[in-house]
Amino acid sequence: MRRVVFNQKGGVGKSSIAANLAAISASKGHKTLLVDMDPQCNASQYLLGEGVDEVGADIMDFFESTLSFQMRANGFDSYISQTPFDNLYLVASNPQLGDLHAKLEAKHKIYKLREALETLEDFDHIYIDTPPAFNFYTLSALVAAQGCLIPFDCDEFSRQALYALLENVQETREDHNKELQVEGIVVNQFQPQARLPRQIVDGLLADELPVMGAYLSSSVKMKESHNESIPLIHYSPKHKLTREFLALYDELHP
Ligand SMILES: Nc1ncnc2c1ncn2[C@@H]1O[C@H](COP(=O)(O)OP(=O)(O)O)[C@@H](O)[C@H]1O
Ligand SMILES: [Mg+2]
Repeated sequence: MRRVVFNQKGGVGKSSIAANLAAISASKGHKTLLVDMDPQCNASQYLLGEGVDEVGADIMDFFESTLSFQMRANGFDSYISQTPFDNLYLVASNPQLGDLHAKLEAKHKIYKLREALETLEDFDHIYIDTPPAFNFYTLSALVAAQGCLIPFDCDEFSRQALYALLENVQETREDHNKELQVEGIVVNQFQPQARLPRQIVDGLLADELPVMGAYLSSSVKMKESHNESIPLIHYSPKHKLTREFLALYDELHP
């Protein structure tokens, strides 16, 4: 299963959700890959910690190779790094990714990531983390994926933006990738005591939007686990937020 975590807004939990679901998948014995497409490299940093500086080849090298037609001998495997966690692999991002954007767009390279990921037969699950934009990289990710998760931060502006976002996904599906399904909207940083977030989420449900049943609470454990570069399933396996992530994972893999 190839799954993209997408929202044009920053800070809604894309990297946290992509990395933690990938880590749970790997911890259950599935060979799992996380592809980081965001030049901010948050997910790469999260999974590799200081090791992020020692990555050999990354997603930028991959996209450069599509421009020069010089794919490495091992194909897409050449761009995959091991992480410290069993069964969990990463294609790291690169802060300079933005420099290639115009060239890749001009040369219509949006199918290259999909073609490359389709060659990875020995991976059970692939997660793609995206930048907070609707650009070439996000489009490549949406074209490459079968499922799409949309993190949602319970904010009124985010709710309004959600409709345009869903239209973008729908348009991508029609134009480039018939296989793409919105698996669900992931409610993140949910505060059950507060009235407004509840109302906003109820509004989504009233509009019959596909909201995932497992809501993710706000917890300081998330920032701690980022700081330590240890995903929640290893950092704090029994914590409430980890259990919510496990419930989300189970919902995606019934
Ligand atoms: N459930 C949560 N509880 C507490 N903090 C969170 C939670 N989800 C995300 N965060 C924090 O919010 C910030 C943005 O999250 P991130 O996953 O980087 O979002 P995005 O990738 O969409 O920009 C990070 O500092 C992260 O630690
Ligand atoms: Mg991010």
